[in-house]
Amino acid sequence: MAETLLKIENLKKAFGNLEVLKGLSTEIKVGEVVVMIGPSGGGKSTFLRCMNLLETPTEGSILFEGVDIVKADEKTKNRLRSDMGMVFQHFNLFPHLSILDNITLAPRLIRGKSRAEAETEAMKLLARVGLESKAKAYPQQLSGGQKQRVAIVRSLAMEPKVMLFDEPTSALDPEMVGEVLDVMKDLAKNGMTMVVVTHEMRFARDVATRVLFLEGGRITAEGTPEEIFERPHEGRLGEFLGKVKGDQLADADIAHAILKAAEDGVITVSEVEEVLAEAKRREQKAKGGAQA
Ligand SMILES: Nc1ncnc2c1ncn2[C@@H]1O[C@H](COP(=O)(O)OP(=O)(O)OP(=O)(O)O)[C@@H](O)[C@H]1O
Ligand SMILES: [Mg+2]
Repeated sequence: MAETLLKIENLKKAFGNLEVLKGLSTEIKVGEVVVMIGPSGGGKSTFLRCMNLLETPTEGSILFEGVDIVKADEKTKNRLRSDMGMVFQHFNLFPHLSILDNITLAPRLIRGKSRAEAETEAMKLLARVGLESKAKAYPQQLSGGQKQRVAIVRSLAMEPKVMLFDEPTSALDPEMVGEVLDVMKDLAKNGMTMVVVTHEMRFARDVATRVLFLEGGRITAEGTPEEIFERPHEGRLGEFLGKVKGDQLADADIAHAILKAAEDGVITVSEVEEVLAEAKRREQKAKGGAQA
């Protein structure tokens, strides 16, 4: 049995009178890839932000390697924060710094690495995501997908023990989603512990070791991808899955299929029309299902 990295107990968070997290409990073990799904406003981002102390929980505890990070002093909090990499929907790269400087800044400042050492490691990480040629470029010269890969590398440069992702692909053009998901798959394969909020159901199905469904500030379903996706569900989870299967999943799948076919030079106009019609059918079916 793998050891527990994060243990969350009865986590609550309120903003004024609005109770957003209503007592979450779960454990994240070393090497797990936990995917969080659920309707908008359910508290997914707030949960992630509590985990790395961007928000202070109102109640409950978060044990990181056994240390309660909610009660820790500032110095301990900062140390623990730097052990958790966080990647957001918007890349938050420093616009006035080169890609290399974006990546090496924190390792130099916080980990006390020399410039040479930090740069050598940064170049290795950039090579891993296929971007070593962009080291001297500035963020505005990169595509969205490239920026997000750099944002991931920047987190990895701190050698985090866990990576938290909040909808890392939802601000990207469809043709760039795949390259970012590939980097995340590679991380997962190499044993990185990950918590990922995403609408990419195929990623969830293929990569997650566990799926959490969060709605109304509670985890209302939890299981392996098989348990969540391959079995019929009633109530909100069923409705939600019907919806995402109808749009995001179909859209992403179809966009990938079209691009792949275009790359291979085998797609024809009538085939494009066919896949679009199929997408429409799925959408209508999903709508019908949700109403039934
Ligand atoms: N800083 C804040 N102040 C006040 N309310 C907030 C704050 N952050 C989030 N909320 C509220 O908390 C609730 C949960 O928000 P959260 O962003 O965690 O949801 P989510 O599940 O990530 O949604 P989405 O899928 O749209 O990203 C929402 O009602 C939101 O308006
Ligand atoms: Mg969110």
